[in-house]
Order: sequence, then structure tokens, then C-alpha cells
Amino acid sequence: MSAMLSVITPAVLRAINQPVTDARGLPREAYTDPGFLALEREHVFDASWVFVAAAESIPDPGDALPLDLIGRPVVVVRQRDGGIKAFHNVCRHRGVVLVETAQKQRPTLVCPYHAWAYGLDGTLLKTPHFGGDGNHSTGPIERDCLDLKAIRCETWNGLVFVNLSGAAPPLSQYMAPVAQRYPEHDFAGMRLGRVMEFELAANWKLPIENFIEGYHLPWTHPFLNSVSSMANHYSVVEEPIAGQGSDLYERDKAGHAALPMFPRIGEHWQIRAEYPSLMPNLLLGVHADHINVWGLYPIGPGRVLERVHFFYAGDAAMAPEMAAARGVVEANLHSINLEDVGVVEAMQRGRSSPGYVDARFSPYHEACIHSFEKRIANAVGAGLGLA
Ligand code: FES
Ligand SMILES: [Fe+2]
Repeated sequence: MSAMLSVITPAVLRAINQPVTDARGLPREAYTDPGFLALEREHVFDASWVFVAAAESIPDPGDALPLDLIGRPVVVVRQRDGGIKAFHNVCRHRGVVLVETAQKQRPTLVCPYHAWAYGLDGTLLKTPHFGGDGNHSTGPIERDCLDLKAIRCETWNGLVFVNLSGAAPPLSQYMAPVAQRYPEHDFAGMRLGRVMEFELAANWKLPIENFIEGYHLPWTHPFLNSVSSMANHYSVVEEPIAGQGSDLYERDKAGHAALPMFPRIGEHWQIRAEYPSLMPNLLLGVHADHINVWGLYPIGPGRVLERVHFFYAGDAAMAPEMAAARGVVEANLHSINLEDVGVVEAMQRGRSSPGYVDARFSPYHEACIHSFEKRIANAVGAGLGLA
């Protein structure tokens, strides 16, 4: 049996599907093996909705944003009618990546290699000099078979998702647990501030596993622990949500109490923050006055891109006089995340060692991680015909 197939075995599934007190985590190869990432791509990412962008990042017709989804270049494009479409970001001529960097208000998508041009809806429009100098005809090739390959794409409250398999249930169903858990947060009213990126030398699961537990706060984040301490944290395991929350997040101590809160926020939520994850790659930081939306994009088994979108509570929060308070939110996250990057990358280095076998979970703090790892193991196991 290849190394790839031996990562998830019936014995691994039995061990991870035990109650959290007895369960063992995913084996270390699940964090280091390229073959395992290929299985996750097929059975976890492609099967699901994958968050790719904020709609506000491509506000105007002809705006386009490229993204690599585990070796599949994808581009999302704002249409003339205001809709958003997603395509495989690959020229149909000889396969060059079509859009390498974000583009603004261009009438077409033009390949940098031989200048084939596609409409914003993916239609192949121009094949310059294909038939010889000055002859743009494609001759016997059927042009309309050479339109860009579309990818299923839907938007939920300004968040753009794609589904590579095309077979996932509707996006509204995927996001329903979020809408239900946070009825006081006006997702439709979110306004995009900054977008921040981090690239980590770690498997994509490790920043998620770190994000959803509050156990490490006193040691990794002394400042955050003073704003919202470990003692106030609880684990959230309401599958498909796995996360953590704090029932005492002090906005004034954090330095952004000037920001307006979402309009329906009641007393309970004014001092609360939650950090849920939704498989595979969506993390939310839900606060009374802002929501961080994270997309995690594996680059290889030991490398990941994190893209963090800062959303605020309506237009009032975007006013110039709120810039300082928004800056505090953004600076806090930046420094806290750099603290996380250190431990997450150290976990990756440790997991490359034969001295590491699998994880044990704190039943109080890490039931959420157990839930997350179990769902990965079972999805890959089912894909391999083991479950
Ligand atoms: S590969 Fe795109 S035009 Fe040739
Ligand atoms: Fe952290």
C-alpha cells in the first residue's frame, strides 16, 4: 500500500471516532504527505463550497481576481449585469494562466501569451493572427467549444464561494448554520475594510486548529489574554461549526470601542466574540462591531496562504473618523496572528519528526479540533471506500 493510502486506515478511523477523551488525532502524515493533500482536494475541498473572495474586492464590471485552489487556478469576474462568475483561469489555447494578478474594469480577459481574448462571461472573442498574419479566423476549430470553463459560483452576503464538483447543496444551506448562530449580526450590512495576507510554512489544517481553540491564549497571546482571557473561553462544537468563543471580550481594552456595533446587537453579544470554522477553509472572527472572514488556501502539504477580510458594521464604520479604530482592529489581528504563525509553523516542523505520532485533545478546550479532524478523516475515509 502506498504511503498516500496508508494515512487513513480503518484503525485510524476507529481511533479518531472515539469520544474526545480517548480519541487520537490525524496521523502526522496527514500534515506532510502531498498524496494526502490530493485526497483532501478531491474529497474535502472539491465536494464543498470554498470561500474565494469578498464581492467588494471586485466591485465593477471587468474586475477580476485570480486565486490558486490547490493547483487549480481560478478567477472570479464581475459581470456587466453586476453578477459574479468564476472560471478555470486557464487559456483554452495552450493553457497559460490567463489572469495572473487582480485586474480592474477591463472589457475582456486577455491571455498574455498569444492575446486570445475572452468576454467577461467567458466567451472566446478573439484569436489574433491564428490563421496567419492578419487572419484571425480559427478555421476548422469550433470557437464556442473554446470558451472558458465555468465553475459553479454563488454569493452569500457579499462573500463569494465556488464549488468545483458542482454537486454541493446550495450555498445558502452551507452558510445556514452561521446565519442561525449569529442572528444579531447583520451580514448583509458588512462593509469591507482591509484585506490582509499571511503565508505560513504549515499544513492548511494547522492554522485552523490553532484558531479554533482558546487553550493557548495565556502563553502565545499575553495581550489578547488580557482583553479576553482563556478562562472566559469555551469550545463550540455544533457540527458543521467547530470553533471557540469568549463570553468576555472587552472592546475598550482592545482599543476599538469607538466603532459602531451591528444594529441588532443585544447586550449579550456586546461583550462576546466567537471564532467558528466551517469546513474546509472558512474561518470567522465574529465580534459586536466587526467580522473577520478568513480564507485558507493550501499551497502544498507544508504551506498555506491566509487571506483575512476585515468587515465592519455598515457605512458609518467606514467613515474617515473611524479609520483609527479600524486601524486598531487590523493592527491587533496582525500582531496576534504573527504570534500564532510562530506556534503554527513550529507545530509543522514538529509534525515532520518521527517523534510525533498523533494528537491528544483537551476535552474542554479542544473538542472543536477533534470535531474538525474527525470530519476530515471521515470525508477522506469515505472517499477511499473505508467508511
Ligand atoms: S496560450 Fe493563451 S493565447 Fe496562447
Ligand atoms: Fe492564537
